[in-house]
Amino acid sequence: PFIYFVTPTHFRAAQKADLTRLSYTLSHVPNLHWIVVEDSDSLTSSVAEILKRSRLPYTHLNARTPSAQKMKYTDPNWTLPRGVEQRNAALLWIQNQLSGVGSGVVYFGDDDNTYDLKIFEEMRKVDNAGVWPVGIVGGMFVETPVLADNGSIISFNSIWKPDRPFPIDMAAFAVNVTLILSHPNALFSFDVPRGYQESTFLENLGIDRFNMEPLAEKCTKVYVWHTRTEKSKLSKGMVEKLTKKTGFNELES
Ligand code: UGA
Ligand code: MN
Repeated sequence: PFIYFVTPTHFRAAQKADLTRLSYTLSHVPNLHWIVVEDSDSLTSSVAEILKRSRLPYTHLNARTPSAQKMKYTDPNWTLPRGVEQRNAALLWIQNQLSGVGSGVVYFGDDDNTYDLKIFEEMRKVDNAGVWPVGIVGGMFVETPVLADNGSIISFNSIWKPDRPFPIDMAAFAVNVTLILSHPNALFSFDVPRGYQESTFLENLGIDRFNMEPLAEKCTKVYVWHTRTEKSKLSKGMVEKLTKKTGFNELES
């Protein structure tokens, strides 16, 4: 099955660096279609160039986060959800373009995470909804489903908001395209509590967290890490330029 790898991306000093590294990872993966959605008013040539050079099959879209939902450059990263508008644009593209295709698996792969090539072979095993451990997230070395001896999911080891219906990161799951096609209203939203993006989406797809398919050798291996690129230290002048370009709200003085 084809993998549809959905990457929201926004302008910042390290954007090209992060996307270049990601493109080099993905270029090792056969049968992968990269859907890159820029958080911008229009497509940019620097992202277009990276896509072209990757030689991957790709779709290049843009969907700008509304100003009211856009974080200030100086905000801590968790004040607002990220990637909402962009992932929804990709979901609409999938609904429109893949309705006749019906096979494939959809994964939300952020531009700054680190992916072992083995995660892609795990994704291809997904029948309905697959789940696996993620490294360096939620205050832990590894956040993972906990399995019983018979291989079924009995709990999740998360310590950050463990009462979430799906206490997992965006990088921890992939779903079948058919599930997306049959649930056109399953979208991301700004209107959910912090940390509930994954849960709301997966609930709207009608998934039961204990019936997800545990992958990566029964969830004993880490094949994806929630690495985060450090926010670049920039001069005040550079930050002002960035603010103008990206539509970040006015900087607080
Ligand atoms: C965590 C999760 O891993 C994300 O999947 C989730 O979207 C995010 O929290 C959240 O709570 O919204 P984190 O590393 O904190 O991730 O988020 P970022 O990497 O800063 O952003 C996630 C993706 O959205 C990235 O691919 C980034 O380029 C993109 N993004 C970020 C935008 O498109 N616009 C923005 O203004 C910010
Ligand atoms: Mn990130």
